[in-house]
Amino acid sequence: MSRFGTPVRDAIDSAMIPLTAAGCENPRLDAEVLLAAALGVSRAELISDSRREVAGPTARVFMDFVRRRREREPVAYITGRKGFRFIELAVDRRVLIPRPETEFVVEAALSLRSGARVIDVGTGSGAIALALKQERPDLQVLATDVSADALDVARHNALRLGLEVEFVHGDLWAGLEADAIVSNPPYVEADARLMPDVGLFEPHSALFAGADGLDVIRRLAAAPVPFLAVEHGHEQAEAVETLLRAAGFTDVARVRDLAGIERVAVGLRDAPSS
Ligand SMILES: C[S@@+](CC[C@H](N)C(=O)[O-])C[C@H]1O[C@@H](n2cnc3c(N)ncnc32)[C@H](O)[C@@H]1O
Repeated sequence: MSRFGTPVRDAIDSAMIPLTAAGCENPRLDAEVLLAAALGVSRAELISDSRREVAGPTARVFMDFVRRRREREPVAYITGRKGFRFIELAVDRRVLIPRPETEFVVEAALSLRSGARVIDVGTGSGAIALALKQERPDLQVLATDVSADALDVARHNALRLGLEVEFVHGDLWAGLEADAIVSNPPYVEADARLMPDVGLFEPHSALFAGADGLDVIRRLAAAPVPFLAVEHGHEQAEAVETLLRAAGFTDVARVRDLAGIERVAVGLRDAPSS
């Protein structure tokens, strides 16, 4: 890249070479998002203005971003931002990067009655709790996490977004009463092989949950609530439905993600068991 400026298209094309060689799945998308972040514009603005040039400090920032991505650091950690439903969250290596499939957990909870008390168990960046509060301000939303570091990120996001969610440092629902629990808990099997982007960078305490990946979901199924929406792994739908039914949830719906894969279980029952 010369100091006289490189056209955006050339900068993207040249970044794609190392990103492709490093095995990144979407090298063009990654390069576009990273260049937009380096320039301080949106990706749409970047693409629509092909005359824009990349030069000087911006070029150096972009090259550093590409170097980090080449080492498989996730794009969201590099830009420090991730969109989730209608909000944008600040993220860093203290929290899991919110995933599109988790948006279905929020969607399931939109059916809750007005004023319901909801707990987001294992809130991480605050994704589920904050998106839910943004879409349903009438709900009383509380969020927990065992990681104090994650709660710092979530509180910061709540403040930035001006959303009123209470955060509690504790295990599962922390013994608190609620009408509903929503959660994207850890559910990866202990011996699973993860993509480098995930395994090398995301917090392991947010991912792994025992030999079959169900340690946390098993405990969540015992939550004394009439509504439980929980995300799970690709091949866990059957096992999670069985766990929820055994725990007294009489109505269990299996929700598919955009790829048609069952990724969320929603359990309903008339009254809490304890
Ligand atoms: C898969 S991440 C989900 C983060 C966020 N909800 C999201 O969807 O992006 C799981 C989170 O649960 C937290 N966690 C793990 N075990 C927990 C427990 N027993 N009680 C509360 N939180 C827990 C982890 O620290 C992590 O932040």
